[in-house]
Amino acid sequence: MAHLGLVGIGVMGSAFAQNLAENGHNVSLLDRSIEQPQKVAKAGAAQGLKGKLLPFDRAEAFVASLTRPRSILVLVPSGGPLDAVIGTLSPLLDTSDLIADLGNSYYHETERRVEELEAKGLQFLGMGISGGAEGARHGPSIMAGGSAASWAQVKTPLQDAAAKFGETPCCDWFGPGGSGHFIKMLHNGIEYADMQQIAEAYGFMRDGLGLTAPEIAEVFKGWMTGPLNSYLIEIAGEVAAASDPKGGGAMLDMILDKAGQKGTGRWSVIEALHLGSPASMMQAAVEARNISADLEGRKEMEAIFGAAPKPITGDKAQMLAQLEQAMIAAKVCVYVQGFEVLEKASTAFEWSLDLAAIARVWRAGCIIRSVFLDEIAAMFDTGGSTNLSLAPVFRDRLIENTPALRQLVATAIAHGQSVPALFAALGFFDMRRTGRSTANMIQGLRDYFGAHGFERLDTLGQNANGPWHGKN
Ligand code: 6PG
Repeated sequence: MAHLGLVGIGVMGSAFAQNLAENGHNVSLLDRSIEQPQKVAKAGAAQGLKGKLLPFDRAEAFVASLTRPRSILVLVPSGGPLDAVIGTLSPLLDTSDLIADLGNSYYHETERRVEELEAKGLQFLGMGISGGAEGARHGPSIMAGGSAASWAQVKTPLQDAAAKFGETPCCDWFGPGGSGHFIKMLHNGIEYADMQQIAEAYGFMRDGLGLTAPEIAEVFKGWMTGPLNSYLIEIAGEVAAASDPKGGGAMLDMILDKAGQKGTGRWSVIEALHLGSPASMMQAAVEARNISADLEGRKEMEAIFGAAPKPITGDKAQMLAQLEQAMIAAKVCVYVQGFEVLEKASTAFEWSLDLAAIARVWRAGCIIRSVFLDEIAAMFDTGGSTNLSLAPVFRDRLIENTPALRQLVATAIAHGQSVPALFAALGFFDMRRTGRSTANMIQGLRDYFGAHGFERLDTLGQNANGPWHGKN
């Protein structure tokens, strides 16, 4: 018998099954054909993993192999394929049995699934896991949402399998319904913004400063010794340093500049907009991917208008130092925006999210892991403000680095370098630190055409109208 079931033995499923077995858990594996589960079970035995992996291709036998209450982890594509698996499994399950979705599902769908399965007496957990196949095998970051009882049922094996920051597992339960998947979605929104910033820095160095890919790799490597130290900067260095096994030149130079996306970044922006929370850097990142995908359209425009980026002359070392500082300032802005979305979601959906715990599970295993997140966790742990830009460490970083961000963005724009995420960071920072904004004009216009009213500075709290149309 096994005390865990795993459905979907693809790249991630195979890796996670072996991880669980390595940690001493017996796991039944179900896939449409027996070959893949058998292959993974054999590989597990050959590695001498402590737990047993039992292969199945029939749902009935798979369910019968599990100890009660049953806990079944599902790692199949979200949407239709996941609903099909739930449809097959749920009639075979008994009260209190649990299905946990480890895919990147939209949290609205998770909420629906929780309701539908709980109505049948079953339990459902929506669980985001981050870290790719490598993470799944050696320790992912795990963000769970659903009932407390269902979490208690799978907490131990998942914490065993999760990445550890020191001794602490990067695996936690955050609240009911779709809260776990919401947090994973936002993790990906931040991932998009982080990656877009990196791509902009790369473009500035390649097209502005004329650096080669190996030279750019060295710059990224250098950033690993400062506040930008993170998994994404580390792998950006590795991507830029790699040579093409076919032609021998830089691998990066041979990669088509069309970015893919599966939806989590877009959902993050949509949800942030619904919550009225600024997410301009994630939005810039999603739009940049959208525009990149239209290669033919970009080529057509370039033929008419000419290529935008122009070489930047000047002291390269100084500009690279400025770029690093600009990246630091912008990174603070990404996390300010990200944590505000989480805070607003927590209030709006009554999830009582523990922001410190979220920062803690992002410190290892996940794609956005960085030194920054440890600092954010420490800041929340000491009861710091949820506005990260006011916490001393981030406030000082903004004070120190936003002048460089301004200079860098100005230089980039003057030379036709497209830096939408860095620009969005600066625009966000400038708006947020402006006590007297220009929204009085918006209010005046709204009142002029629609009599929407406004507050006068001398009678705050009361509705007033303007003198237009001879009314007042
Ligand atoms: C992770 C990644 C993972 C996956 C994303 C990529 O945290 O491990 O975010 O979930 O790589 O789905 O998303 P896009 O294909 O949209 O870039």
